[in-house]
Amino acid sequence: MTDFTQRVFSGVQPSGDLTLGNYLGAIKNWVSLQDAYETIFCVVDLHAITTWQEPDVLRNATREVAAGMIASGIDPKKSVIFNQSQVSAHAELAWIFNCVARMGWLNRMTQFKEKAGKNKERASVGLYVYPDLMAADILTYHATHVPVGADQKQHLELTRDIAQKFNSDYGVDFFPEVEPLIFGPATRVMSLRDGNIKMSKSDPSENSRINLTDDCDLISKKIQKARTDSEPLPGTFSELGDRAEAKNLINIFAALSERDAEAVCLEYEGKGFAEFKRDLADLSVSVLGPITKEMAHLMNDKTYLDSILSEGAKNADNLASPILKQVQEIVGFLRP
Ligand code: TRP
Repeated sequence: MTDFTQRVFSGVQPSGDLTLGNYLGAIKNWVSLQDAYETIFCVVDLHAITTWQEPDVLRNATREVAAGMIASGIDPKKSVIFNQSQVSAHAELAWIFNCVARMGWLNRMTQFKEKAGKNKERASVGLYVYPDLMAADILTYHATHVPVGADQKQHLELTRDIAQKFNSDYGVDFFPEVEPLIFGPATRVMSLRDGNIKMSKSDPSENSRINLTDDCDLISKKIQKARTDSEPLPGTFSELGDRAEAKNLINIFAALSERDAEAVCLEYEGKGFAEFKRDLADLSVSVLGPITKEMAHLMNDKTYLDSILSEGAKNADNLASPILKQVQEIVGFLRP
């Protein structure tokens, strides 16, 4: 096996506002990887348009995600930060992967089924081949480690299948085996209105999520309004049973305070939600406040943000282009 450097790649979609879910589930965990790996973080605008995006909204959201990453501690001097559409290797390799992946594999993808819903016939073709593009994102850098939420695990398995099929079809040892890096329980932050569905930028209810563009007052209000039940809190996490909303709030508390969910339960044993939510609101404001403030500051300096993204794109392209060239060679594309 070729000796690959330890390289991390991950992405966030610029579709709608960045939420607490993106922060706790993804970005916050990426910060700590910067010193252990070579890191590449991408704003995946090509993925975003698999569902309709207003052009101006997309442009703004792309900058906002970049600002959110930087405000959260992703350092452009340590990590490559860029938006996907600036590096053409992603789309070019995705096409080749469309020809490697099998219909049967894509038919099994649960995210497509969820996103397309009942109206599969009207979903974009892009939404269907979304996982091939994700595989291209990762493999065009020969990335070895990919931090993702549990909901993306299936896409990573597909990435491994594509890499393997490519290697065996062409009789090469070219693409590495990709390992997922899955983080703690709050990697899946649930809606504040319904503890059984994921916190999402596309949920029609604003109160279901905390956006990284919310100010401190609003963050606090949304926590206070979060749905709960009327039971007091038990001393252990397992005793929460199927109290989905309570579990979600405990997990958020644990992730924001970098403690164990069990330790949080122990502290609030026997207490009601009024007190717990007051503390959670304060905690949320103290952790997120500085980030949202810095984000707003960065959003006022678009020239700076854009320069980070174009510099990042140049660096990304330098990594991706030679790999894509080798793929074209392997596949048999004539390059006179
Ligand atoms: N599909 C991922 C999500 O929705 C985003 C993504 C796109 C990604 N390309 C990626 C994540 C490559 C990791 C690696 O969360």
